[in-house]
Amino acid sequence: MRYLITSALPYINGIKHLGNLAGSLLPSDVYARFLRMQGHEVLLICATDEHGTPGELGAAEAGQSIRDYCDEQHFLQKKIYEQFNLSFDWFGRSSNAPNHRLTQHLCEQLEKNGLIEERTTKQIFSIDDNRFLPDRYVEGTCPKCGFTRARGDQCDGCGTLLDPEQLIAPRSKISGSTKLEMRDTTHLYLLQSKMQDKIRAWIDTCKDTWPSLALSIAYKWLDEGLDDRSITRDLSWGIPVTKNGKPRPGFENKVFYVWFDAPIEYIASTIEWAEATRNNWERWWRTDKGAEDVTYVEFMGKDNVAFHSVNFPATLLGSGEPWKLVDNLKAFNWVTWYGGKFSTSEKRGIFMNHALELLPADYWRWYLIANSPESSDASFTWELFQSSINADLANILGNFVNRITRFAQSKFDGKVPTRAVEPDTGYIKLIAEIETRLHNLTQYHQNMEFRKAAAETRALWVIGNEYLTQAAPWTTFKTDPQASAAAVHTALQLCVFFAVISAPIIPETSEKILSGFGLALSEVCWPQNLQGTFVGLDYLKAGHAFTAPDVLFTKIEESWIGEQTARFGGGK
Ligand code: 2FM
Ligand code: ZN
Repeated sequence: MRYLITSALPYINGIKHLGNLAGSLLPSDVYARFLRMQGHEVLLICATDEHGTPGELGAAEAGQSIRDYCDEQHFLQKKIYEQFNLSFDWFGRSSNAPNHRLTQHLCEQLEKNGLIEERTTKQIFSIDDNRFLPDRYVEGTCPKCGFTRARGDQCDGCGTLLDPEQLIAPRSKISGSTKLEMRDTTHLYLLQSKMQDKIRAWIDTCKDTWPSLALSIAYKWLDEGLDDRSITRDLSWGIPVTKNGKPRPGFENKVFYVWFDAPIEYIASTIEWAEATRNNWERWWRTDKGAEDVTYVEFMGKDNVAFHSVNFPATLLGSGEPWKLVDNLKAFNWVTWYGGKFSTSEKRGIFMNHALELLPADYWRWYLIANSPESSDASFTWELFQSSINADLANILGNFVNRITRFAQSKFDGKVPTRAVEPDTGYIKLIAEIETRLHNLTQYHQNMEFRKAAAETRALWVIGNEYLTQAAPWTTFKTDPQASAAAVHTALQLCVFFAVISAPIIPETSEKILSGFGLALSEVCWPQNLQGTFVGLDYLKAGHAFTAPDVLFTKIEESWIGEQTARFGGGK
């Protein structure tokens, strides 16, 4: 099968924190890796979301032009995602040419279909800044919860979506000025109210596939009635507004709203990928050109669901063109920092660059997937991090691989010994348990149940440890060399098997284990085939040479936790 997978586009304003990683980027990669190992054709797309106020404010703070700022930040983000082994087939930029073309095209299509209207409304104008202040440029007190630094688009205190004029005591985020007044401004509106029935009918067709979090958010919006939505803003950085391919009169100082063009970048990024790699993008996105065979899965935080379940589909459906719509939408809750909010703008919590200065990517990948914020928010704590790493990675997986490969290297001359005995009860039990648990693991990955997938991966490592403890080849080495050789043979096969099943979550460790056996991740497949059968523990022939890898995981000590708590905060 063919899978198109997109991860919500991270805003351009700086290196992201672990919450962003856990809430879309990382799970999209784990899912893509799993599907590729199953033999599916996968296209994993992401990009930086470069328009709108996050970029403008970030550039102002950095004292750079917006273009230079975006160039620099895009490459910093791209590099850090590579270092985290996020296997994007393309990591694009929403400011690139294909997105300009496609965003303008889609708006013109919507207009042709009677779904765009110019409307003049009053908006906040800052006299001292001599400009209109869109959403995030206005700060004030939230009318719902009293948070004093609520933004004009959303309150970080209670999550309510706001309009700037609802804020109490509003002020300009640029200058802090309170000399604000309401002035007339004209914008384009997408007439979503006219599309209510069409969108509901489409969402009804997704009832059996979308997870409940996404469905409930989509229906909540529909039940409240879809508002017509302004899709342009008074800003200079962004995609210019056109009519019949020419600058639209009266819109010379306006651009498309970031949330109108950002999801379109999923398609535009695919176009960039196709141009760079001589591929065909239409077979992924146009149902008249082969995309009806594609399964399209989107990953995002829960605050993005409304945009992806209603607004972006409204753009695509309203265009009247045969665009591929999302088949499954996996939404995540938040990773919190000791119960509070991680925040890019307020620099609270651990950011991806700091994380990699401390420990390799797999430590973080494992922790974030094993504690994925799926059914509720998940609090990051150093203590939980320490126990996940020590108890799961170091004590179970690391200990198994390091112990048996070292023993086998010294006692069997670095070659896989022969398995020359009939399967005993220990072996039969091992295989039966693997079959059951591998079946579960495959289901969890398929269903994108990440916590369960990590727990089942760990359970498989545990089965291997139990087998080895019971077979005790170090004890039988003198008394029953054949039994010892057979147990070592099986345990070495298990090392490879563990590397394979762990690869979607901790690919670097998998590569390390496999390379000791002269194997590469690119040449191994998921061990349960598409017919649901376990392919067996048959990776290595007797005599196959190997080398024991270095210690796979270093245990995290109390003193280290103390140092990090002092540096990054947290603690009880
Ligand atoms: O919430 C965010 O971080 C947005 N930048 C996500 C955009 S996703 C898509 F629409 F492009
Ligand atoms: Zn609030």
